Formats: sequence, C-alpha cells, structure tokens
Amino acid sequence: MKVISVLSQKGGSGKSTISINIARCLQLKGYNVALVDTDPQASAREWNALASDEFFPVYGCDKGISEKEIRQLEKLADFVVIDGAPRIEKSMADSIRLSDFILIPLKPSQFDIWACKDSIELVQTRMQIDKRLKAGLVLSQMNKQTNLTKDVVQFIQENFEIPLLNSGTGLRVSYAEVLSQGGTIFEGQSKEAKEEITQITNEILLMLGVVHNE
Ligand SMILES: Nc1ncnc2c1ncn2[C@@H]1O[C@H](COP(=O)(O)OP(=O)(O)OP(=O)(O)O)[C@@H](O)[C@H]1O
Ligand SMILES: [Mg+2]
Repeated sequence: MKVISVLSQKGGSGKSTISINIARCLQLKGYNVALVDTDPQASAREWNALASDEFFPVYGCDKGISEKEIRQLEKLADFVVIDGAPRIEKSMADSIRLSDFILIPLKPSQFDIWACKDSIELVQTRMQIDKRLKAGLVLSQMNKQTNLTKDVVQFIQENFEIPLLNSGTGLRVSYAEVLSQGGTIFEGQSKEAKEEITQITNEILLMLGVVHNE
C-alpha cells in the first residue's frame, strides 16, 4: 500500500479538489482506494455525502491519522490519499511521517508560494531523514492566458528542492461544478480536466516506481 498526502498550510490551494480527483483516477485504474479527510472543515466528507456509493470510502480523522489507522487501511486499500488541513500542526507532521508521497498544490502566485514555504520546508527536512519519501509540487488553478506562470516556475525551481510536476490543474469551472454535484472530473464533461488529473496521477505513480499497465 502507498500513502499519498496532499498538503499545504495555505487555504484554498486545491488540496481537496486534487485529493478527490486523484483518488478517483487511481480507482479507475483498478486500484482499491481510501480517502482520509484530516481537515475539520470536512470538505471531502461533505462531498462524499453527495457522492455515489461506487466511489471509494472516505474516512474522517480530524485530529490526523495515526500509524494504527494506516495499518488498518492496509488491509483494504492499495492507495490511501490524505486530504490535509490548511494548517501546520501535529496532524500535518503525522501525515508527512506516514506518507510515501507528498503532493503540495500551489496557486501560481508569489503570495501563495510564500504562504506555503513552511510546509515545503517541513517536507524537505523530512526527506533528508527519510530517503524513501518522495514529493512533488503541483501548480493548481493556472490561468493559461497569463505569463505569470513562467516566472513562478522559475522561482520554484530556483528556491525549492522538491520537484515541480510537469502537469498541473488549469483554472476551470468544471472542477468546482463536478464536486458540488457529488462527482469527479471523470464524471464531468471537461476532457482537459480529465487529462490534467490523469497526468498528475501518472507522474506520482512514476515517482513512486509503481508500474501500471494501462
Ligand atoms: N483547477 C481549479 N479550477 C477552478 N477552481 C478550482 C480549481 N481547483 C480548486 N478550485 C476551487 O478553489 C476553491 C479551493 O479549492 P479546494 O477546496 O480544493 O482547496 P483546499 O486547499 O482544499 O482548501 P482548504 O485549505 O480550505 O481545505 C474551491 O472553491 C474549488 O472549487
Ligand atoms: Mg480542503
């Protein structure tokens, strides 16, 4: 079993949106998936209340996930996706310690990058201790019309050790629309959004060394 945490102290960076959609992407690839919602705002649980039973189970852990709980999920799931809370607290440190991969979504703005610097540094510090831990930064809600993203990419590459994924999510109403209807982008109409989430998931699998036959 592999544990993927989607973390950032910055509110609204796209953690829940990306967590739910990559969990669904992994499920559609044939894996057993569980989603753990560690945010007391409970966005993933609210979504789950609307969602179809055919999707994966969503567990709420407001105080963060423990090693014991992860071991229990090991019996049920090939992948556990953890949706993080927008705070630096013990629950974030626990998720980092129990993960195989940490995904940090960032909106392509300098303020947003500064705002999640502490989360990035926490993960980088853990990676120095735990050599098997992998991580990636992912741009979220990109406006493809502006040149801002290029400067942000350069800033990230020059200032952080964690690699930036080649794919990210574009700013698309479909992301908000499908979740509010209890679905994911795989039940929606946006081919571009499906492609973005599939590419992000494939990059994570590659970095985890998981060989997947399509
Ligand atoms: N790619 C996207 N395009 C358009 N809207 C998006 C996209 N990703 C997320 N959003 C919207 O941005 C808002 C914040 O996203 P989301 O709730 O996933 O972030 P979060 O990091 O989980 O927030 P929080 O820190 O409060 O938990 C939501 O209204 C969501 O619908
Ligand atoms: Mg959230």
